[in-house]
Amino acid sequence: MKVSINETYDSQHIILLPVFEKELLTDDSYGINSEVKFLFESRIFEGKKEQMHYLHSGQNFLLVGLGEKAKINDQILRNLISEGFKYAKKMNFKNISYHCIDLNKVTLITESIILANYQFDKYKTVKKDNEVEFFNILKEGIVDQSRISEHVALAEATLVARVLSNEPANILTPKELSARVRLFGEEYGFEVEVLGKDGIEKENMHAYLAVTAASDEEPQFIIMRYKGNPDSKDIYGFVGKGLTYDSGGLSIKPTDSMLTMKDDMSGASAVIGMMIALSRNKVKINVTSVVAACENLISGKGYKPGDIISSRASKSIFIANTDAEGRLTLVDAIDYIIDSESIKEVVDIATLTGAAVQALGTTTTAMISTDESMKKRMFAAAEKADERIWELPLFDDYRDLVKHHEADLTNSGGKPGTMTAAAFIENFVKDVPWVHLDIAGTSWIEKDKGYLSKGATGVGVRLLYQFLKETI
Ligand code: BES
Ligand code: MN
Ligand code: ZN
Repeated sequence: MKVSINETYDSQHIILLPVFEKELLTDDSYGINSEVKFLFESRIFEGKKEQMHYLHSGQNFLLVGLGEKAKINDQILRNLISEGFKYAKKMNFKNISYHCIDLNKVTLITESIILANYQFDKYKTVKKDNEVEFFNILKEGIVDQSRISEHVALAEATLVARVLSNEPANILTPKELSARVRLFGEEYGFEVEVLGKDGIEKENMHAYLAVTAASDEEPQFIIMRYKGNPDSKDIYGFVGKGLTYDSGGLSIKPTDSMLTMKDDMSGASAVIGMMIALSRNKVKINVTSVVAACENLISGKGYKPGDIISSRASKSIFIANTDAEGRLTLVDAIDYIIDSESIKEVVDIATLTGAAVQALGTTTTAMISTDESMKKRMFAAAEKADERIWELPLFDDYRDLVKHHEADLTNSGGKPGTMTAAAFIENFVKDVPWVHLDIAGTSWIEKDKGYLSKGATGVGVRLLYQFLKETI
């Protein structure tokens, strides 16, 4: 699908027309206000939220109800326009236009439509929907083309994240993930270095090695470096959880919970997507991201509940539960990144705890941090990206819960699960300002909704990108 900005349209198009509840179009450039008025009066279509109405009047129109003007916000707009787009797509239109009333919304419309156009149907031999060829934003006035391109790149990078997370674990092994990241690096211009098992052993990443031990797939420690600001020595660090599959290990998950565990590398997808967006948009900042990719499986070589293992930082860890594996891979990756590069701040992003889903559901990412400046930028970024985040606390009594009588730490400190997971990780960040994002709830959606389609959401790409833009 090609996205363009235009002042004209051709008759093969369908035009999405946003309509506020019982408000006629302010400029009647299409000459259809009398018909819209009739629809209002006959109550066929009143512009109520989520109402849609196809109108043929010399031209194809889809009236998209936005509800009351006073109640509209960006999130609602993104989702309603996406629903309108999908409706027109289902009607088999190959050229879809959007009548843009507010020029400030051009970028968010662009993002939303590109996201709404995606569906995970790679493995269906017969595809359900037709392909939209052109999406055209009709506007009057001047739009900075470079701003549109920036958001096209950002949305497409989000789709890359969705594709990676939707790939089943038999296809997207750690090796396959690192191979794809190498290609992205070549295509978009960031450096990629990969450590295999030998390299990971040399780095003494004992916690990460314990998690991967039961798998026949070689672990891949993926390092991505983007140098967008050669004038500065500051590097911002990101760590994405990269479990290409999480069975739980010996603390095995029930089958139902395993069904979606291919997405347990969505933190990795988020940082990979962010790296792509940064490079495509040539953002002036230096960023290093790492992913400790592996699988959490079961075999005679695996780690066991009751084991005491070591870690790159030489802290000993009691294994209370082999399903609390993500934090083990993360802490070795965090220790590596703050030890090997001059990292100014570090963010980890992970599908870490079921408790995050319990606390905040599937619409809100949990954030835990002790750094006020980073939190402020993360909240500002969440506004820009329309990705909701909420802060959870890190109190001293939670910190006490991850201490252990036989080892320095335990990998499962019990309830509250999201906070004890963060408390565990905090032991490895030293004095580097740090934000922890738990996307266990937001990385996946069971039903199509607005610009999200069933499956992986690509959450985090736009958030992290906007976070860095807040930072420069
Ligand atoms: N990958 C899971 C977390 C998860 C759960 C992600 C549901 C998405 C949806 C993680 O590795 C895990 O298993 N966490 C355990 C930790 C517990 C054993 C301390 C959990 O949350 O139950
Ligand atoms: Mn797990
Ligand atoms: Zn996991």
